[in-house]
Parts: sequence; C-alpha cells; structure tokens
Amino acid sequence: LRPGDLEGQTVMVTAGPTREEIDPVRFISNHSSGRMGYAVARAARQRGARVILVSGPTGLAAPAGVERICVESARDMQAAVMEHVKECAVVVKTAAVADYRPAERKGDKIKKQAAEMTLALVKNPDILAELGRLKKRPFLVGFAAETSRLEEYAARKLAEKNLDMIVANDVSLGDAGFNVDTNRALFLFRDGSRQECPLMSKDELANRILDQIASRLPAQRPR
Ligand code: PMT
Repeated sequence: LRPGDLEGQTVMVTAGPTREEIDPVRFISNHSSGRMGYAVARAARQRGARVILVSGPTGLAAPAGVERICVESARDMQAAVMEHVKECAVVVKTAAVADYRPAERKGDKIKKQAAEMTLALVKNPDILAELGRLKKRPFLVGFAAETSRLEEYAARKLAEKNLDMIVANDVSLGDAGFNVDTNRALFLFRDGSRQECPLMSKDELANRILDQIASRLPAQRPR
C-alpha cells in the first residue's frame, strides 16, 4: 500500500474551521489551523487520488494538484460537500465545524451596550450525519475532537453518524489536535476493530489514515 494505491478514486477532504458571522466585524470560530486536513488532502493526492478539498478559512496554500473549494460558514461547507459528494468514493471530514451559529447576523456592527450581553445561537446542520444518511454512501471517515472520555465519545459518534471509521484525537494535549504539526490518534472502525497511533507528524498520521481507507475500499473496477 501507498504509492498510487488511490489511483482512480476521488477523495473529498474537509479542513479548517468554519466562521459564523455575528455582525460585519465579528464571528464565532475555533482553533483549527487546517493542518491535519491539508495533510490528508496532500497525501491522498500523492497516492494518486483526485482530491476535492473543502476548506474553511486557513492561512495554508492549496497542496499541488488538489481542487480546493474555499468556504466560510458551516452552511457554505454543507452546500459544497453535498454538491460534490456524488463524485466521491471517500469523504474524510477533518474540518472543525461550528455546532452553533448566531440566530441572526446583524447588518450593522453591534454597539457596546450594558455590562452583560446575550447572544442567541441556533444549531448548524451536522454535515457528517447528513452524509451518513445518504442511500449511496461514500466510505465515510469522521474525526472526533475530545477533551475527555476519548474512546467512548468517538465510538458514539461512529455509530450515531453511521461512519466506516473515526479518527479520535485528544485536543487537550499540547502536542496533538489543534494548531500543532503533530498528532496522536485512536482509529475506530465500523466492524469493531481499533488501532492506536502514537505521537507522529500530521503528514504521517494522514498516511496511516489513508492506509486504512485504501485497504478497506472495494477494489476499483478497471475502466
Ligand atoms: O486543523 P488543525 O489545527 O490541524 O487541527 C486538527 C483538528 C483538531 C481540527 C482535527 O484533528 C479534528 O479533530 N477535526 C474534527 C474537529 C471536530 O469538529 O470534531 P467534532 O468531534 O466536533 O465533530 C465530529 C465530526 O463531525 C467531525 O468529523 C466534524 O467534521 C463533523 N461535523 C461536526 C459538526 C457539524 N455540524 N458537522 C460536521 O460534519
């Protein structure tokens, strides 16, 4: 497995944070830098796949040969993912999607008011869960960013979102998760198997994820 093993496959990767606007100058977001998702996109391309990278705002350049679609909000990401999913054998959802957005985006900058202020939020669509409900599902890989009970919460997401594989990472560790070049992860699979990946670069972890995907994909029909 590795060189060329994803030739003939189209892989979608989502990466980075989403931004949910409050007013023209403010937004809700998170610490995702996009590095983990971009590493998966780059590695999949190097292994021969056609790669569609749906990216939230990051400071990263698109990896060579990857088709990048830039989005801002969770709803933008949902639209881009759902438009292209039919082309894809695999979807890897590395993006840190905001679970909530402001109930209303103000057209004018909100003025400073009393000592306290309350912001009403509404739930964003769960893109991964929507993919899990598709009749013709691609091979679906989710991530789980947790700060406690890593395996338990990740296993729940794997089952509830109807995934083939989940990559669980403990984002409370200094050398893993958000905004660093390294990560450590636990892979859980639909068939109940598991694999632990110790501390390594995000590039290497991306390849470990793709090793699992490549070995579990149905063989490509000759064209
Ligand atoms: O970008 P980096 O700085 O390199 O950091 C990498 C990372 C920590 C962002 C990455 O490794 C990671 O854990 N990504 C998933 C972050 C996340 O949002 O996890 P979650 O447990 O909240 O979501 C579970 C899964 O559902 C994820 O695959 C997520 O993309 C998806 N989801 C979540 C909410 C939502 N509304 N729609 C979704 O599709």
